Amino acid sequence: MYNKKPVAENIFHVGVNDRQKSLFENYLPLPEGVAYNSYLIVDEKIALIDTVDVSFADVYFAKINAILKDRTVDYLIVNHMEPDHAGSIGLLKQKYPNITVVGNAKTFDMLKGYFDINTQLHEVKEGDTLTLGKRTLTFYMAPMVHWPEVMVAYESNDNILFSADAFGTFGTNDGDYLDSCINTDKYWDEMRRYYACIVGKYGMPTQNALKKIVALPVKTICSTHGPVWQQELNKVVDLYDKWSRYEAEAEGVVIAFGSMYGNTQQLTEAVAEGVVAGGIKNVVIYNVSKTDTSFILSDIFKYKGLIIGCPTYMGGVYPLVEKLLSSIECRGIKNRLYGCYGSFTWAGAAVKQLTAFAQTMNWELVGNPVENKQAVSGEKYQAGFELGQAMAEKLKALRQ
Ligand code: FEO
Repeated sequence: MYNKKPVAENIFHVGVNDRQKSLFENYLPLPEGVAYNSYLIVDEKIALIDTVDVSFADVYFAKINAILKDRTVDYLIVNHMEPDHAGSIGLLKQKYPNITVVGNAKTFDMLKGYFDINTQLHEVKEGDTLTLGKRTLTFYMAPMVHWPEVMVAYESNDNILFSADAFGTFGTNDGDYLDSCINTDKYWDEMRRYYACIVGKYGMPTQNALKKIVALPVKTICSTHGPVWQQELNKVVDLYDKWSRYEAEAEGVVIAFGSMYGNTQQLTEAVAEGVVAGGIKNVVIYNVSKTDTSFILSDIFKYKGLIIGCPTYMGGVYPLVEKLLSSIECRGIKNRLYGCYGSFTWAGAAVKQLTAFAQTMNWELVGNPVENKQAVSGEKYQAGFELGQAMAEKLKALRQ
């Protein structure tokens, strides 16, 4: 009834694809859908690692039944309590009343709060092990990647890391869950967007978790979202390392602008022309009114240069640019080269506030902020061009 090909001998992927939900966490668009992965280890004892969103519990239980027949599940390892994974715990407990839930003290606080479960618990701490028969799991705490109770489990026979959300990505598993069996092109931008929006605030905790992970001889990463990583394992670990250090992936500039009647947009053209004339080819322009903030945030993680422009609106920054600024500030993105520009009709305020954002973020302000009154004059167009050129010069100076 479904592909029961194991991840390793007697370790099965029993996750599901969600092609229905439009918005993850009810705010992040899902153009490629999302997968909720759970894993079943069949040994002398049987263990499930995490569950799936409760909307898919029927499909999930059918997959488990198809493998176990009349055997029962002994342990549920809860690496992460967010309901996209923990959602089916209540139903699982009804189905397997004698199941023991394995987690840490923080897990159990949430387990009681969400499901009123506080019996048959097995608490683990850093480095504790659980033997299932031939296989043994070792637990490592990964707090704030991206919730406080998060932990990972390492299986030492086949060097498999069950990594919770870490190394996860938006995007369903299409036709197979193993990275070597599918074209992984669609995941890289979506993985960065997932990281930027969900984990991005927690760079230091992610670095701390990575230190533990790279010390293990991991050959397979089983995340809770997206493919199981084997072939691309080094790439995903390198990307997580880069993102969590807020280091750009490539040389380039994001220009994000808001514009009500086209004047700030004209300045955007001038700025972009300046960047390209200055010798930088990667310029990504986003109209904040057309593109969801999550995609813009993702490219801000990708590129070192960022230039933001908008009109003054009610004595402040244009609302959708304000949303972008707040998303950036919330994630604490570090070490960006930053410029700004904008326009107004009778009293300018936005450019002053956009300029102050450099200080808020402790970023280097590049070039002169450009503030245009009413229609864009030739002089202001030139100033926009020079702002773009100044950014290009700064980026080129970083070339090795
Ligand atoms: Fe995929 Fe943090 O849950």
